[in-house]
Amino acid sequence: MRGFRSGVAVLVAGGLLVACMPQAQEEEVSGRALYVDLCASCHGDSGRGDGPAAAGLSAPIPDLTVLARNNRGEFPLVAVMSHIDGYTRTDEGDPMPEFGPLLDGQLVPVDTGDGVLTPTPAPLFALAEYLQTLQR
Ligand code: HEC
Repeated sequence: MRGFRSGVAVLVAGGLLVACMPQAQEEEVSGRALYVDLCASCHGDSGRGDGPAAAGLSAPIPDLTVLARNNRGEFPLVAVMSHIDGYTRTDEGDPMPEFGPLLDGQLVPVDTGDGVLTPTPAPLFALAEYLQTLQR
């Protein structure tokens, strides 16, 4: 009887886990997982510029947790996405790679601040949204 009970408990727990997973996974693929994969080596897990590769770079790494604070409290979504994409960076010798091609994906409509919905690659937007959650 005991064995049966704990068996049921395991089944129920397993069912709950499966029921919760799809949502959690979607969120992870969107922002944090991309950040950890592509950005944390330089920018650090926390975004403060303390990644293991930071020391060897020719340019100082900006603190990504104060982007909003540096912009009168408003997260500069469009500038951030352009920066990641590589669109606004023309400087030769900028150690940060252009991620545009890597972040290609399904397009989602994003309000870029002027009320116009601009089709934006979903991974790029997810990454920018994740950075927004790091603001302090
Ligand atoms: C090879 C190291 C490196 C990697 C990898 C890297 N960055 Fe950077 N990043 C930098 C450096 C150095 C700068 C400062 C120079 C510049 O403006 O590009 C910077 C600047 C930025 C800025 C501009 C911050 C500001 O103050 O305006 C953003 C936003 C940013 N990175 C986001 C990202 C994201 C998101 C990723 C991952 C997709 C990433 N970076 C990957 C090195 C890196």
